[in-house]
Amino acid sequence: MEFALISTIILISIFPQTSISYHLETTFLQCFSSYSNSTTKVVLTQNSSSYASLLQSSIRNHRFSDTSVPKPNLIVTPNNLFQIQTTILCSKKHGLQIRVRSGGHDYEGLSYISNLPFLIIDLTYLRSITIDIKEESAWIQSGATLGELYYAIANQSKVHGFPAGSCPTIGVGGHFSGGGFGTLFRKYGLSADNVIDAQIVDVNGKILDRKLMGENLFWAIRGGGGSSFGVITAWKINLVHVPSTVTIFSIPKSLDQNATTLFMKWQSIAEKLPNELFLHSVIGVGASSSSDGGKTVLVSFTGLYLGKAENLLPLMENSFSELGLKNDNFTEMSWIQSVLYFGGYSINDSLEVLLQRNQTSPSFKAKSDFVKEPIDISGLEGLWNMLLEEKAPTLIMTPYGGRMSEISESETPFPHRNGNIYDIQYLVSWDSNEETSKHIDWMRRLYAYMTPYVTKSPRAAYLNYRDLDIGMNIGNASYVEAKSWGMKYFKSNFERLAQVKDEVDPSNFFRHEQSIPPFSY
Ligand SMILES: Cc1cc2nc3c(=O)[nH]c(=O)nc-3n(C[C@H](O)[C@H](O)[C@H](O)COP(=O)(O)OP(=O)(O)OC[C@H]3O[C@@H](n4cnc5c(N)ncnc54)[C@H](O)[C@@H]3O)c2cc1C
Ligand SMILES: *[C@@H]1O[C@H](CO)[C@@H](O)[C@H](O)[C@H]1NC(C)=O
Ligand SMILES: *[C@@H]1O[C@H](CO)[C@@H](O)[C@H](O)[C@H]1NC(C)=O
Ligand SMILES: *[C@@H]1O[C@H](CO)[C@@H](O)[C@H](O)[C@H]1NC(C)=O
Ligand SMILES: *[C@@H]1O[C@H](CO)[C@@H](O)[C@H](O)[C@H]1NC(C)=O
Ligand SMILES: *[C@@H]1O[C@H](CO)[C@@H](O)[C@H](O)[C@H]1NC(C)=O
Ligand SMILES: *[C@@H]1O[C@H](CO)[C@@H](O)[C@H](O)[C@H]1NC(C)=O
Ligand SMILES: *[C@@H]1O[C@H](CO)[C@@H](O)[C@H](O)[C@H]1NC(C)=O
Ligand SMILES: *[C@@H]1O[C@H](CO)[C@@H](O)[C@H](O)[C@H]1NC(C)=O
Repeated sequence: MEFALISTIILISIFPQTSISYHLETTFLQCFSSYSNSTTKVVLTQNSSSYASLLQSSIRNHRFSDTSVPKPNLIVTPNNLFQIQTTILCSKKHGLQIRVRSGGHDYEGLSYISNLPFLIIDLTYLRSITIDIKEESAWIQSGATLGELYYAIANQSKVHGFPAGSCPTIGVGGHFSGGGFGTLFRKYGLSADNVIDAQIVDVNGKILDRKLMGENLFWAIRGGGGSSFGVITAWKINLVHVPSTVTIFSIPKSLDQNATTLFMKWQSIAEKLPNELFLHSVIGVGASSSSDGGKTVLVSFTGLYLGKAENLLPLMENSFSELGLKNDNFTEMSWIQSVLYFGGYSINDSLEVLLQRNQTSPSFKAKSDFVKEPIDISGLEGLWNMLLEEKAPTLIMTPYGGRMSEISESETPFPHRNGNIYDIQYLVSWDSNEETSKHIDWMRRLYAYMTPYVTKSPRAAYLNYRDLDIGMNIGNASYVEAKSWGMKYFKSNFERLAQVKDEVDPSNFFRHEQSIPPFSY
């Protein structure tokens, strides 16, 4: 982000922003109202009373609420596709960049920040969900949240679910287009793997479904990120089967309780477990049990089993007896209760909590890595020491294998398939933006420390854990320039993504710091 902020400052000092904005806003509004009667409610200017609250409503990284972060000239909140078409045509005509926002969870705020004059298309009012239990499918508009989707499925069936992320406020638009994984992905793959149709408004304002967009573009938006290709307005998915009873457990272990040895064992088995068992480990720091006021590393082994406790117990005894699991450690529940649990709620909370879209968010920085060989003990000990330097670090180790290993690397743009034991998400959060640089420095040192233990050439990363440190476009970057970061997210799929971009947006209108450039640039 540092780079981005520096270039903003340069822009502002060269061009007097106010005169540009005034002109852009007026001409955009005139253009928009020549097509539509609803300008005042749908297009918010910085003068509108609801501008600030709408902008803030889905900023999920407090770092980017700061006044120093560039704000949009306009926010468009469409109620229908016609208003999206109009917004694209008027933005192109009057030189405004577009940022599309569904749930606003982008780790670098790319759905609501730009250094060029820009507007946000915020999809909050386009969030209908239509479930067809008989056909075991659903159409979901991009502005819906995962919580709304899970709720809508559970309202109609106890034995259907969908493989997607844990945090209920994540937007469908960014999540599906970047891949999307959660507790069901060893059984059913990514969200993107279960998308069977979609609807997009392209750079020419045309509304296309799968048939009209063709298989290349349909491939690209299932893991290549939506924001390079247009505004994706809806998705059709296949629902998946879940049993009426699932089982969860969570066992925290400190260093005194053999956390290191247990984690070594976890690395050797997590990816080989049956597809029905998702067992991730979440690593943080906590007070040490010895009364010296010291800190210790805590590794929590948390599992979701698609079945009953009586079948899980022998499975755990055979594969991971060191964890010492007993019947008392298991809780049976419905699948939707497990959604509450992994979403940070109590399993007895009312399902309506899944519909809440408001949420307070800390400032944070995150990164990702993929692991193909278990990290050795000395590597782990160095990692623990680095974690103990921070106040609130979290590492989420998500096991791969299962269905993820069966899908080929080129099936979708998401290439992280067979051969990965697990991925790591590194997270650090803090309250005051005055501390930002200290924590980001720590995160970068941690990432440097991990170099020998993770994938190389390229050092792979997950698009939905967006990280501008791995590289970014400067202005209208070429394909060759963008390869430095593009290969990390997409490996050899990057070339095909750039070819699709060439076909659908040859003038590179939909662009940002990590958008796919047209292949021919
Ligand atoms: C608290 C938290 C928990 C998370 N947990 C998980 C998890 O369990 N599993 C996982 O896989 N990921 C997880 N993520 C990451 C999440 O999947 C990504 O941040 C995802 O991109 C968010 O989608 P969004 O719509 O909320 O974000 P947005 O910020 O709205 O969008 C993200 C990107 O997609 C683009 N985009 C959004 N909507 C559209 C659209 N309709 N058309 C075209 N482009 C669009 C945006 O322009 C932006 O570039 C988590 C993130 C957070 C903050
Ligand atoms: C705008 O409103 C007028 C009168 O209410 C109507 O005749 C016209 O068709 C509307 N135009 C559009 C583009 O909706
Ligand atoms: C915002 O309000 C100010 C002061 O009333 C006015 O000068 C400016 O033109 C307005 N801007 C827009 C985009 O309406
Ligand atoms: C739940 O489903 C019933 C019909 O099965 C429907 O009437 C109701 O509106 C649904 N609730 C929600 C919040 O979707
Ligand atoms: C697991 O169950 C045992 C009793 O069988 C109990 O002593 C232990 O505290 C439980 N562990 C957790 C993390 O709940
Ligand atoms: C740690 O593991 C060793 C053997 O690997 C075992 O002897 C010891 O009892 C374990 N300690 C705890 C606290 O579980
Ligand atoms: C949820 O409710 C059940 C049944 O009332 C109860 O046994 C259980 O302890 C509750 N669990 C939690 C986590 O509150
Ligand atoms: C969100 O809104 C609900 C209902 O209005 C409220 O109960 C809840 O406390 C709010 N949560 C946050 C984090 O503001
Ligand atoms: C970007 O660069 C290409 C090739 O260099 C050029 O054809 C294109 O017009 C440029 N696009 C923009 C938006 O500047």
